[in-house]
Amino acid sequence: MEVLKIIKKLIFVMALSCAILVSEPLNNKDNKIENKINNLLNKMTLDEKIGQMNQYSNSWDLTGPKPKDNRNEARYDDIRKGLVGSMLNVNYVKNIRAAQELALESRLGIPLIFGVDVIHGYKTMFPIPLGLSSTWDMQAIEKAERIAAIEASAAGLNWTFSPMVDISRDPRWGRVMEGGGEDPYLGSQIAKAKIKGYQGNDLSANNTIAACAKHFAAYGAPTAGREYNSVEVSMNTLYNIYLPPFKACVDAGALTFMNGFHTLNGIPATGNQFLVNDILHDKWGWDGFMVSDWGSIGELQVHGTAKDLKQTAEIGANGSTDMDMESLAYFKHLKELVIEGKVKEEKINDSVRRILRAKFKLGLFDDPYRYCNEERQKKTLLADEHKKASLDVAKKSLVLLKNEKSILPLSKNIKSIALIGPLVKDTDAGIGGWSCQAGDEKAVSVYESMERNLSKNTKIFYAKGCEIYGKERTRYDLKIDLDENKSGFAKAIKTAKKADVVIAVVGETRHMSGEASSRMNIDLPGVQKELLMELKKTGKPLIVVLMNGRPLTIPWTAENADAILETWFAGHMAGDAIASVLLGDYNPSGKLPMTFPRTVGQIPIYYNQLSTGRPDNNTDWPYLSKYIDGSNKPQYPFGFGLSYSNFEYSNMKIDKSEMRMDDILKINIDVTNNSKIDGEEVVQLYIHDLVAKIARPIKELKGFQKVMIKAGETRTVEFEISKHDLFYYNDKYEKVCEPGEFEIMVGTNSNDVVTAKFTLNK
Ligand code: BGC
Repeated sequence: MEVLKIIKKLIFVMALSCAILVSEPLNNKDNKIENKINNLLNKMTLDEKIGQMNQYSNSWDLTGPKPKDNRNEARYDDIRKGLVGSMLNVNYVKNIRAAQELALESRLGIPLIFGVDVIHGYKTMFPIPLGLSSTWDMQAIEKAERIAAIEASAAGLNWTFSPMVDISRDPRWGRVMEGGGEDPYLGSQIAKAKIKGYQGNDLSANNTIAACAKHFAAYGAPTAGREYNSVEVSMNTLYNIYLPPFKACVDAGALTFMNGFHTLNGIPATGNQFLVNDILHDKWGWDGFMVSDWGSIGELQVHGTAKDLKQTAEIGANGSTDMDMESLAYFKHLKELVIEGKVKEEKINDSVRRILRAKFKLGLFDDPYRYCNEERQKKTLLADEHKKASLDVAKKSLVLLKNEKSILPLSKNIKSIALIGPLVKDTDAGIGGWSCQAGDEKAVSVYESMERNLSKNTKIFYAKGCEIYGKERTRYDLKIDLDENKSGFAKAIKTAKKADVVIAVVGETRHMSGEASSRMNIDLPGVQKELLMELKKTGKPLIVVLMNGRPLTIPWTAENADAILETWFAGHMAGDAIASVLLGDYNPSGKLPMTFPRTVGQIPIYYNQLSTGRPDNNTDWPYLSKYIDGSNKPQYPFGFGLSYSNFEYSNMKIDKSEMRMDDILKINIDVTNNSKIDGEEVVQLYIHDLVAKIARPIKELKGFQKVMIKAGETRTVEFEISKHDLFYYNDKYEKVCEPGEFEIMVGTNSNDVVTAKFTLNK
């Protein structure tokens, strides 16, 4: 028995010593800035230090519940006294200058930092983040955020509460529209591109702004997909799935982070010492500052982890939540807590250092009005080239889900078409959920653009068919009031019958996704499916254009429509982007960043699952990991998206079947465009670590390339794999690379792949 134990122990130690630890780089600090921070800190009173940690919202543009004591005027005095470090929701040069002037009246004249949720554009709207993610085009994403930063900074801002890098496997959660999708690798690439877009190469330039990675961490896994709900994820999943995009933000130099409203395994994310002190600061060496989510410090009382507001301040400050967004906990109680010794002054100094560091890096001390130029604001917002860029990226964000008998693209000379559905003439959905300062701006509708782009001889018929809502939902409505009225069907059917082809534009309205917009049923809302069923009965070809902020369950549509184009909420130029795909001016190239389930019963659903001991191998054996009332298979897998071109994969080669730890493995594959039309393909590379100490996913994305391939041409696409692509976090949460066999899979989506094998040696 003893011998057996020793052997087991030896095997364990050997396994560990075989695994190679991969180290994490730490951030570097700028000495000049550090000296300036220390000098300033020496001059600051405790009140002034705590003031830096206090953030107020502009009270006439709230994004959350109003603070209980609405002391607007007194708040301006607080700024004058140096008791405020930042404001959110102040927009435009005039207002920002006014608030900054108050701050400069304070004893030390420390400038405020101004933040807003610039999530998919400031004034010019880009596709919602899930749409941007569908481009799989990092340059396009970076450019969209660059423009968002150029506009926001021209309006006086220097900070955006973006990117949201929460991985999510649950489309019931409304905030999936704000994220990069379900995959940690894709999510990390997108996170880096966004940070680069916002922050550029020079943070002190007047057209770059600080990014904010949120919501640290695992906010994207609320139980049952219900907003603000608690999160239970294993440490294994936390490290391997939810944390990587945040780490990518640290590596990309994200100046700030935001925590979340949730509890993670029972402990609130706000003031979470493990997440922030241990991982973010100690392990990752990050030196930026952490802002709370709206009032999330105060909500610690409601979570039941603090008995009163004072204790929330203690937890928040000790857990390195450097700035309090609107709960007034620091403002009211932090000084007392320092005097009582419950929060060490050194802890306050650390927080203030981090906040001042960001302000120095942004150049706010050199010129607090560097972002305040009315002339620039006027010239920049909604500039023509911004709308053009929005159109370019919008086209790339559309995902062709079905195209039977190549019914799309349509000829511009088609004799007649029927445009049917509640979103055909809609100019609102495209603007998307986080519309920032879009105000009354309208998106181009599908109708308008089709009319402009079809030949003069084409007859265009229109019928709305049905409404989505009885009463339009605004952001603040409590419930969606779906319209069940089918009285418009008869006209829709009559209209469909007159035309050669039917294009139905259906989906969600813009405020059905986003914050506080979880749905328990993610079918097409209202009677839209029934409308599609009636249109199908006319026998006319049925092309469905979807607008929505999350994957939907659309099994009937997937089975019965002739073509389906997923367009998310595609920004200001939505209609033009959609028409360009429908009419063949643009060959679709988007791929899904999130799996489409068949039914909500499959959720959470994601491609990178573990194999289980009894995977569904399609045999008749019942004792397998499957359902008795439906398939495990998703409607559309992660990475899926069609093109008008036809791509064939062949001739996959790897340059070695054995690889040592420091080798680079090269993978080549031929992709042939077997069609008459030039097209872009996202070639995707997945790995599977076949035997590891901890069960590894059956597939993990580790690379992708978006390549243009001319009609009839073959392109050899090359990937390289190093140990940095093969690591995972083990049961001690160390980054390790274990020798052994791996599968390499390359393909057009996570389901259709060509496979090869290699062995990683020590
Ligand atoms: C959201 C954050 C947002 C903040 C400020 C909160 O309700 O969760 O993502 O940045 O409001 O508007």
